[in-house]
Amino acid sequence: MAGNKGLLAMDESIPTANKRFKEAGIPQTIEYRRKYRELIVTTPGLGECISGAILFDETIKQTTTDGTPFLEVMSRIGIIPGIKLDDGAKDMAAFPGEKITEGLDGLRERLVGYAEAGIKFAKWRAVIIITDELPTDGNIYANAYALARYATLCQEAGLVPIIEPEVLMDGDHTIERCFEVTERVLHIVFEVLISQRVYLEGMILKPNMVLPGLKSPVQVDADKVAYETIKCLLRCVPAAVPGIAFLSGGQSDIAATEHLNAMHVKYKGKLPWALTFSFARAIQQPAMDYWKGKDANVAIAQQLLCHRASMNNAARRGEYKKEMENNQ
Ligand code: 13P
Repeated sequence: MAGNKGLLAMDESIPTANKRFKEAGIPQTIEYRRKYRELIVTTPGLGECISGAILFDETIKQTTTDGTPFLEVMSRIGIIPGIKLDDGAKDMAAFPGEKITEGLDGLRERLVGYAEAGIKFAKWRAVIIITDELPTDGNIYANAYALARYATLCQEAGLVPIIEPEVLMDGDHTIERCFEVTERVLHIVFEVLISQRVYLEGMILKPNMVLPGLKSPVQVDADKVAYETIKCLLRCVPAAVPGIAFLSGGQSDIAATEHLNAMHVKYKGKLPWALTFSFARAIQQPAMDYWKGKDANVAIAQQLLCHRASMNNAARRGEYKKEMENNQ
């Protein structure tokens, strides 16, 4: 959360990485996933904008083409390594249409190995689906308990837990409905985190921004997103939490930057927590689309990656302007 930096989520599971590679015309193999992650961690200047990167288990053990472990490359450029610990969101029995995140079995033992490997923080994502009827409280509580149990195990092992309750953007709901659901989810999450003795000063919250659904006919400007998001967070997130790092959740890369910027322009110096980004798609997408798996495209793909990271840096200072998009 320090300075104006943020986090890069590069922890796509094998199915998610393969899905995105397929869309971008990249072969879906372990070697191409390794090459892609090498492209990211060897991007010149990335450490000036990114303070930590969330990795997938497969990446931790991999090396660059010249045999240097990724973790060593990251430590040289000052990017702290984190790990995605959940096993993904599965259909929740007895709760049709809702998801519960799995991965608690054996977590204490896995954490010992990650701590020994030098991993300093972790991520667990809960997925909350919006419809007119969903989410149910039963689903929110089940996900909140999993987040809390993961978080205390991380803290026991000396890793900082990122707690990610993501209210999805899929659907045609209004921003008001997103507010209502996000508020309910965050209230329950913090009620449970407190009851389960999560050390609030030693966690990072990774929430969605408050936004209309992707298919909503009523879209809103960045000022409105900033206002609703901050209003919701102020109602729900204790001041003891040091930092909030947003997911991008399917917003366009530029929209995600504009929204973060608007929050800093409006509320700079007035919030109890630091506010930054922990984007995956909104930082990586232009680079992945350009790369296409070809060595000849690596250098420009890296420039695109660094550009998005630095635009989000500017947004964290409240100094982002759309004209800056042309200076790459
Ligand atoms: P997006 O920014 O693409 O939503 O991903 C963030 C993330 O880490 C999801 O778990």
